[in-house]
Amino acid sequence: MKPTGIESLDKILGGGIPAGWFVAMRGGAGVGKTTLGVQFLLEGILKYHEPGLLVTFNEPLLALNAIMRNYGWDLLSLQQMGELTILDFSSTEMGIMQQASRLREASLDYITQKIIDAVRNIGVNRLVIDPLNTFSLLFRDLFEVRKELHRVIGILWEEKCTTLAVYESTGEIVQDTKYPQFSTEDFLAYGVIHLQYVSISSARERGIEILKMRGMHHSKRIHPFEITSRGIEIDVDNPILFS
Ligand SMILES: Nc1ncnc2c1ncn2[C@@H]1O[C@H](COP(=O)(O)OP(=O)(O)O)[C@@H](O)[C@H]1O
Ligand SMILES: [Mg+2]
Repeated sequence: MKPTGIESLDKILGGGIPAGWFVAMRGGAGVGKTTLGVQFLLEGILKYHEPGLLVTFNEPLLALNAIMRNYGWDLLSLQQMGELTILDFSSTEMGIMQQASRLREASLDYITQKIIDAVRNIGVNRLVIDPLNTFSLLFRDLFEVRKELHRVIGILWEEKCTTLAVYESTGEIVQDTKYPQFSTEDFLAYGVIHLQYVSISSARERGIEILKMRGMHHSKRIHPFEITSRGIEIDVDNPILFS
């Protein structure tokens, strides 16, 4: 068990995430997935000297860096210091590649190999893939997604590289105890963290729920969280109560 370094998250996780685990982090648009992912990498670097790897599919590095600087986080300088490796696959070529099947297979192999090489050669301890959807889109069918993800998850486990795989799910707004829909990625992952919008009366809050952490005593509640100038802060002691 290793603390993520985000104290309030460690509390609801029941201590942290075991080294080498592949954990899906799902949620709707703007709920805070990228923020939490980058925060996880930064805490690793700053508190534990654990080198990180950020794989960005949607947001180009420069745009992402500009946004993250609002939290006082400077991805480019960490990259220059060699503490953070960034693989930017956000170029518009990706969209074109996805349409041509031959190119699609080539790009898929290229991307997977780049990630595995970085994990093996640089020895990163923490990986964030943001989002996994774009990676999964490159596969012909769900069977292929499952097979390849299973292989990659196995390598990450062997290399003891703890992974948060961001997954864009529909932005469901929980009004009662409605159960979320699970995807292939959720079933393959050792753990699932769900970020969601919660509507209570007329107000809308952000909530975080640990849906799954194999064999661990984690919180089973939805905890409200806020995004502040320091990143994500979870209210551990006051879970959301549904009437
Ligand atoms: N400095 C800040 N203070 C408060 N909230 C912020 C700040 N920066 C961003 N946010 C909030 O974070 C949201 C985006 O979070 P992000 O991690 O990019 O979400 P996702 O990756 O899930 O789409 C914004 O819509 C905004 O509400
Ligand atoms: Mg995002």
